[in-house]
Amino acid sequence: MAHCFISVLLITLSIHLIASVGAGAGAVYNIVDFGAKSDCQTDAASALLSAWNAACHSNNPATIYVPNGKYLVGRVTFSGPCASNKINMQIHGTFVATSNYATLGRVGEWIVFDKVAGLSVYGGTFDGFGSGLWACKASGRNCPNGATSLTFRNSKDVLISGLSSMNSELYHIVIDNCDWVMVQGVKINAPGNSPNTDGIHVQGSTGVTITGASIRTGDDCVSIGPGTTNLWIELVSCGPGHGISIGSLGKGYNERGVQNVTVKTTMFTGTQNGLRIKTWGRPTDAFVRGVVFEHSVMENVQNPIIIDQNYCPDNKGCPAQNSGVRISQVTYTDIHGSSASKVAVKFNCSPANPCIGIELQNIKLTYSGAQPAEASCTHAGGTASGFVIPPSCL
Ligand SMILES: *[C@@H]1O[C@H](CO)[C@@H](O)[C@H](O)[C@H]1NC(C)=O
Repeated sequence: MAHCFISVLLITLSIHLIASVGAGAGAVYNIVDFGAKSDCQTDAASALLSAWNAACHSNNPATIYVPNGKYLVGRVTFSGPCASNKINMQIHGTFVATSNYATLGRVGEWIVFDKVAGLSVYGGTFDGFGSGLWACKASGRNCPNGATSLTFRNSKDVLISGLSSMNSELYHIVIDNCDWVMVQGVKINAPGNSPNTDGIHVQGSTGVTITGASIRTGDDCVSIGPGTTNLWIELVSCGPGHGISIGSLGKGYNERGVQNVTVKTTMFTGTQNGLRIKTWGRPTDAFVRGVVFEHSVMENVQNPIIIDQNYCPDNKGCPAQNSGVRISQVTYTDIHGSSASKVAVKFNCSPANPCIGIELQNIKLTYSGAQPAEASCTHAGGTASGFVIPPSCL
């Protein structure tokens, strides 16, 4: 962890920032007072947990304060319910995961918030130290799956503001089974070739807003799983990575649908996909209904607009390649820029459940090759209005 120690030196030389947690924040629990050391080698997990427990048991609003510095942090779960519904975490420092992926990578999660109502996390840098695991995966050896850096589960009224997450072993941030989550101004950074390092994954959650994010990863920028409703994504830049994806959906038979998703004012740079809906070619109860994609700029994106209902890795377990996922009311408005492949718009829907109510309006996607860009439709129906380039095939 040489890189860790160098930074510690720089931080000891720097002036420590004094917390400004705002009036009315109630008691402040500084993790250093609970024994945390920013020496990058003492596991701060138990100090964090002690500070959490004190804050969580407080009947008044409480703040857990993490001063500047680098803290080695092992696997930790911050559990509620808490006595008050106002728990703040004010993080000026960096949390560094162990470089020993053999242990963390098998448990699957690094830092988890569970069953908390009224949680705000301000700032913080989370370094998942994933490079060792990625190298293992690239070598073809038998490696652990990896750990998601930050998970918010079974929680409501959550604010995540100004957080940075880098080099996760697996996903950077997962929002699972939550109500009302605001994710604002987060930065996510991992190399374009790092495996499965999705930026933000949302599932089983309602009322999640992601705004003002910059996400560079080796996998999906934002992925949207089963049971996501009332999701709002705005002002997000993606790339490198695989773009914003609803799915994969429909792997299981009894699966909750995805409904009412808005993705607006997004920028994709050199990504594999732009705006994607992806379902397994398997029978299922799942659906996707009411999606608005608007105001997107594509720069050199392989598949700027794509619905792919024939996902079936290794061609196993997909009888007739027929997806049961019913896709309806999906609109694309004001999407422009450049496609890195000739087919800039691709609707490859299910023969058993054709896509219905797709709307295209004011689309202009160009291809830099010798031929103009094309649109391709299979089992897809809907309407086009305004200018639509390439010409609609609906
Ligand atoms: C759709 O979701 C948005 C939040 O993203 C919400 O404001 C709106 O009320 C929802 N619409 C319906 C019909 O539930």
